[in-house]
Amino acid sequence: MTALAVTDLSKTFPLPRRLFGPARPGVRAVRPMSFTVESGETLGIVGESGCGKSTLARMLVGLLDPTTGHIEIAGKALDNADPAVFGRLIQYVFQDPISSLNPRKTIRQIMETPLKRLYGMEKAERTARIAEIFDSVNLREEFLDRYPHEFSGGQAQRIGIARALAASPRIIVLDEPVSALDVSVQAQVLNLMARLRDEFDLTYLFISHDLAVVEAVSDRVVVLYFGAVVEIGNAKTIFSAPKHPYTKLLADSAPVVGRPLTAPEQKGSELPDPLNPPPGCAFAGRCPRATQICRAEDPALRQMQEDQFAACHHPIES
Ligand SMILES: Nc1ncnc2c1ncn2[C@@H]1O[C@H](COP(=O)(O)OP(=O)(O)O)[C@@H](O)[C@H]1O
Ligand SMILES: [Mg+2]
Repeated sequence: MTALAVTDLSKTFPLPRRLFGPARPGVRAVRPMSFTVESGETLGIVGESGCGKSTLARMLVGLLDPTTGHIEIAGKALDNADPAVFGRLIQYVFQDPISSLNPRKTIRQIMETPLKRLYGMEKAERTARIAEIFDSVNLREEFLDRYPHEFSGGQAQRIGIARALAASPRIIVLDEPVSALDVSVQAQVLNLMARLRDEFDLTYLFISHDLAVVEAVSDRVVVLYFGAVVEIGNAKTIFSAPKHPYTKLLADSAPVVGRPLTAPEQKGSELPDPLNPPPGCAFAGRCPRATQICRAEDPALRQMQEDQFAACHHPIES
């Protein structure tokens, strides 16, 4: 069953108007993209900083209005949906666990908010539900009366996950959920997330710039470059047999667990200017395989293997 279907979803941030001069087109943070996520699946989303991962995530959970396109969850169209409708279906876990929790509220107050707002639960019911969730994420109930700053990063991220679970969503978008944690704590949180996925039948969108983590936790992976999907395929093969030269560049430059993605220093290793995007393939300026057509025509995503799609005029042969 399809848990999430995204069709032509895009986001352009308008630029502040200048008093004189021509109208400016705005920053195209996410260019029109379409993909689906199956129920129970973990879809990894990778790409360098600034490629649009968080903008995509914020649209998916209803925090940001799309410029174009549609989002459908479990067959339900979410166009102009109420935030509460989004909230019961899809939740978001942020990168920085401590600062994403309101510092002036106790953990109990933080946990109670979605139960009140989304489900209108009474006090006794809320207390029971919070106890149940805390048990699932291995947090002690005595933590409930403390404040966010009293916790370590790993504990705070488990609280962030507990808060997302409180809404009983079908889908959780995890935006760099372990990037701010020590490597030793990352594994604990990743194991917890895997267990919760099975226990609660969850579907995950797992965003990270850490290729090794994404490869380990995902069933399929989407590779973003400059706001667009350049490749999508099975997590087991996409990095070992990439079709898109950008996926290959990522795979070659990040072989170690926990090491952030860094493109090799070279001429033209910069992302294109989002205010003045090149006409053809956005990766052409960095691509060793680029030819004339790459600088003229933006390639569409097409099927390369049974479960692998790439947007490239000169895909890598296997
Ligand atoms: N609120 C905003 N206003 C204007 N531009 C933005 C805004 N948020 C993000 N951007 C731009 O959109 C692009 C994608 O950003 P983001 O989604 O945060 O990328 P990532 O999460 O992959 O690092 C960047 O060029 C960023 O500067
Ligand atoms: Mg981000």
